[in-house]
Amino acid sequence: MKHTEVFEKIIEEQLARIERIKQNQTPVDYTSLDKIIIGVIGGDGIGPTITAHARRVLEEILKEEILAGKVEFRTIDGCTIENRHAAGKAIPDDVLEEIKKCHVLLKGPTTTPRKGDKWANVESANVTMRKELDLFANVRPVKVPDLGIDWTFFRENTECLYAMGSSGIHVTDDLAVDFRVITTPGTERIARLAFEYARRNGKKKVTIVTKANVVKATDGKFLDVCKAVAKEYPDIETDDWYIDIMTAKLLDEKRRREFEVFILPNLYGDILTDEAAELQGGVGTAGSANLGTRYAMFEAIHGSAPRMVEEGREAYADPSSVIRAGAMLLSHIGYQEHGEKLLEAIETCTIKERKIVVTGRPDGATGAEMADYILEKVRG
Ligand code: IPM
Ligand code: MG
Repeated sequence: MKHTEVFEKIIEEQLARIERIKQNQTPVDYTSLDKIIIGVIGGDGIGPTITAHARRVLEEILKEEILAGKVEFRTIDGCTIENRHAAGKAIPDDVLEEIKKCHVLLKGPTTTPRKGDKWANVESANVTMRKELDLFANVRPVKVPDLGIDWTFFRENTECLYAMGSSGIHVTDDLAVDFRVITTPGTERIARLAFEYARRNGKKKVTIVTKANVVKATDGKFLDVCKAVAKEYPDIETDDWYIDIMTAKLLDEKRRREFEVFILPNLYGDILTDEAAELQGGVGTAGSANLGTRYAMFEAIHGSAPRMVEEGREAYADPSSVIRAGAMLLSHIGYQEHGEKLLEAIETCTIKERKIVVTGRPDGATGAEMADYILEKVRG
């Protein structure tokens, strides 16, 4: 295909996607469903182990709802790097079909092939799932009470450099081009979600992060659209920062306390949330919600740590971030009380009390012990 034709195809695909976004604005009301199906995807490396701990915690908390037939847990096998490699697909078709029969998903980390390793160079399973299920919002809370940090990041999850991340072109041996996509309805929906969240949770300030001084078309649009949405929320203060100085300000002990809610395009959100999570104790401590209108997926933000498995240490992997993702799942499907209770228990165990500590090595507690400790706090 000629490069101009590739470009034409991309534009057509994105214009069609915009129409789909416009037609798909009403979120599912989980409380109106007879039964909520929670799919559990173990993933790779330490994924199956830590996800099993999280499932055990959720199953105990939802014991009555499961008995009453209101909630069902379903195991989704096959989302492993071996199967994805064999199928030559980011998510094999049969696995995707099973995933689409669920309402919400709890997902362990999945290995993303990188250039030069032994795996077929398929797209990241995360990225594919976010696109396939149109999970447009990646919500990542980071809290460090001692430092006065209480942030919630609303990372746009389907556009930016991720929309066409695997569709860039090598024009000649010397020239490679990738495509960055920002759309008006795609930006509107993430901005609205962030402002609604701010309003519902008594937050006073929303911060928009771009590099609109340099990346004028796409970041310019993102900033303009967010500002237009902000006008509908005059009770909330809005400011905007460039990504470079924002990364610095997260380390500024005085200024950073002022920030509450952030809205970012996909890649800046990816990077800034890792920095933020590090301040909380590392990416292993953070959970993340990937929200769409029909589906939602909850996951840890760390990777699959294959080295821990190679060295036989997976029993010592920290399940707290995927359990935290589980707490977000509970709140999202209408069990706010359960969700808040679980979150409080996680914070007691991992931040306040720390009676046992997971280090990832045999000198620390096992993941099973951490899950038991958290359950003990939930039971009260
Ligand atoms: C994340 C991860 C993914 C991303 C990777 C695994 C593709 O870093 O969830 O933040 O870049 O979004
Ligand atoms: Mg990331």
